[in-house]
Amino acid sequence: MAVSLTGRSFLKLLDFTPEEIRYLIDLSAELKAKKHAREPHRYLEGKNVALIFEKTSTRTRCAFEVGAADLGMHAVYLDPSASQIGKKESIADTARVLGRMFDGIEYRGFGQERVEELAEYAGVPVWNGLTTEFHPTQMIADVLTMEEEFGRDGMRGRKVTFMGDAGNNVGNSLMVVCAKLGIDFCACGPAEQMPDAELVETCRGVAAETGATITLTADVDEGARGASVIYTDIWVSMGESSDLWGERIRLLSPYQVNAELMGKAAPDAIFMHCLPSFHDRKTTIGEEVFQKFGLAELEVSNEVFEGPRSRVFDEAENRLHSIKAVMLATLR
Ligand code: CP
Ligand code: NVA
Repeated sequence: MAVSLTGRSFLKLLDFTPEEIRYLIDLSAELKAKKHAREPHRYLEGKNVALIFEKTSTRTRCAFEVGAADLGMHAVYLDPSASQIGKKESIADTARVLGRMFDGIEYRGFGQERVEELAEYAGVPVWNGLTTEFHPTQMIADVLTMEEEFGRDGMRGRKVTFMGDAGNNVGNSLMVVCAKLGIDFCACGPAEQMPDAELVETCRGVAAETGATITLTADVDEGARGASVIYTDIWVSMGESSDLWGERIRLLSPYQVNAELMGKAAPDAIFMHCLPSFHDRKTTIGEEVFQKFGLAELEVSNEVFEGPRSRVFDEAENRLHSIKAVMLATLR
């Protein structure tokens, strides 16, 4: 049966079947080809979308704004300081107000329950632009990026390893998307930073049906061995206290993705990162961490980040195409 996601919210990948995820990846590739060919695709002319950001963003915000414009829509950006959300107005009330004015709503913020509540009350599709638990739009872009390297559907049976803070929103979501698509997933990091046990169990259940495997290991050699993709993310996520840096550096330094670690992966392995990244001292936080702890490169070395196996900017571009696919699929 043909896939239709019209009217659906996009809150977490666990809500979607492998076929629906496949459809979104293919639609992303189609929209990317149209964009590169400068072929107009204003399929959602006249619609309006609200973009709520309770945390900062470069890629996600720009992808939603440019994507909305490419599709013929108008986007309104709401930052926490410029709206009543949470302070003077509940999520449920905000949802019912915005649902009367907009055709779709993006939300980036804290607990997953907030985006779920927004979707429950809005009456229009709600898209998760990152919560503490999940970052689902990132995953559509990421699988598209992997498939650009290894072929459409070419990831099945390959190994993807998330190095470091594997229990964060990106690590969790990567585990889910791999389980759904029959990709072997490995979370490689210290026990303290692993995905939640319940989520691991859920993903193992999904994996049993798709042929994926889920491995958790603290051993870098085991994690890197044979991996086609080495993926990492920052060690302290948005919303977490900056007091955590010392502890995270102690726990996660062995998992820094550097040339030695990449050398343990498959010979054709690529490096991926959702970005932003602390690979040098050219950021305020990167410099502060250097001054305090003496480390100039954190989750990834500059050599790997800038090196020939890095696909991080293709991945960043693919955020645009995949976010457009999510909006188009749910609003058309
Ligand atoms: N990867 C990602 O979501 O980036 P932003 O925080 O810049 O949106
Ligand atoms: N784990 C990171 C992802 C940023 C895109 C964070 O939540 O800050």
